[in-house]
Amino acid sequence: MTVQSPILTLVIPTYNERLNLEELVRRVDIALQGLVWEMVIVDDDSPDGTAEFAKSISRRDPRIRCIRRVNRRGLSGACIDGILSSSAPFVGVMDADMQHDESILPRMLEQLQSGHYDLVIGSRHLDGGSAQEGFSARRAALSLLAIKIARWALNTNVADITSGFFMLRRDIVDGVARELLPSGFKILADIIGSVKGPLRINEVGYVFRGRMAGESKLDMKVAIDFLGLIVNKVTRGLLPVRFILFAIVGLFGVGVHLAILGLLVSLPDMSFLLSQTIATVVAMTTNFFINNEFTYRDAKLRGVALLKGLLFFYAVCSLGALANVGVGTWIYHFNRVWWIGGLSGALMGSVWNYALSSILVWRRGD
Ligand code: GDD
Ligand code: MN
Repeated sequence: MTVQSPILTLVIPTYNERLNLEELVRRVDIALQGLVWEMVIVDDDSPDGTAEFAKSISRRDPRIRCIRRVNRRGLSGACIDGILSSSAPFVGVMDADMQHDESILPRMLEQLQSGHYDLVIGSRHLDGGSAQEGFSARRAALSLLAIKIARWALNTNVADITSGFFMLRRDIVDGVARELLPSGFKILADIIGSVKGPLRINEVGYVFRGRMAGESKLDMKVAIDFLGLIVNKVTRGLLPVRFILFAIVGLFGVGVHLAILGLLVSLPDMSFLLSQTIATVVAMTTNFFINNEFTYRDAKLRGVALLKGLLFFYAVCSLGALANVGVGTWIYHFNRVWWIGGLSGALMGSVWNYALSSILVWRRGD
């Protein structure tokens, strides 16, 4: 047989990256000269026709393959699927938009091949690395905060734990694949948090560049999602990520409720009862829409289903409020500490709302 199997599979998750692919392949080809490699482009059915274009590249260069996923979205899930499609001993993950410096790929691979490391991360926060060019000031601050929390929670000293640029032994992902969460952007932290036993990690600095064509898909949702993952790992999977997101939205709803209540009671001729009723309905409604956009974005309701969902959500929350008051009063009856009663009631109410919303409103098992 004359065909050699690749030593490295590069996984490239894409969403609307058609205009970047040609240049990406050209650069990777130059960087990896002399090595046997392949590239798997994992596209979530981008409206700009990325998948079709990727396949036109594969027809002239069989090292390039494309997995087109339909009815699914998620950077992590795309990376996982790409990695699991590989049979090479080493796999790498990299953005399609030229932000990651392809010229350090051979060095990353060498460090894995030497057998000294299991995982090598392209790092923006090391000597020789920087993120100035590719980041707005706000993004840089947000990213540093996420890194601090994650390093503390995962008990690791990796400098760039939110990096989307890394390479590792494929068998490591094979071992933890079932534990990895497919939503969001935090695949690297998820892998590190899921591996049991020591992982020998090294980082290679690089300069994070500005994106070539198109725009970033990372937003505030991603940051909060990341927080959810960290709590999930710290509690060893006890608290589902979705519950944590639901609870964060719930806390936000309490803020909305109080703000509106405060405003209404200050109006002349406004009774507390009416103010409280309006504030409750507004808070429930905003929570419903935020949950639909965010917590359950993979099961997002639209059209008639959205209206039906809202009515179900009102019903679930009303019963949740009863459960809250019932349990709170009952606990208070035993220990006579007002905040323990209040907290138990609120906890009971949110678990109830979460469980029933998942099943009845968004029809999800989790
Ligand atoms: N298949 C798929 N599905 N790909 C996606 C999705 C998705 O839902 N969302 C984003 N991508 C692809 C993009 O097309 C790009 O190739 C890569 O994933 C990274 O997305 P960007 O939108 O370019 O992210 P960024 O540059 O703002 O974020 C950078 O920093 C993050 C955290 O610090 C990247 O380096 C991320 O990988 C990193 O996690
Ligand atoms: Mn990018």
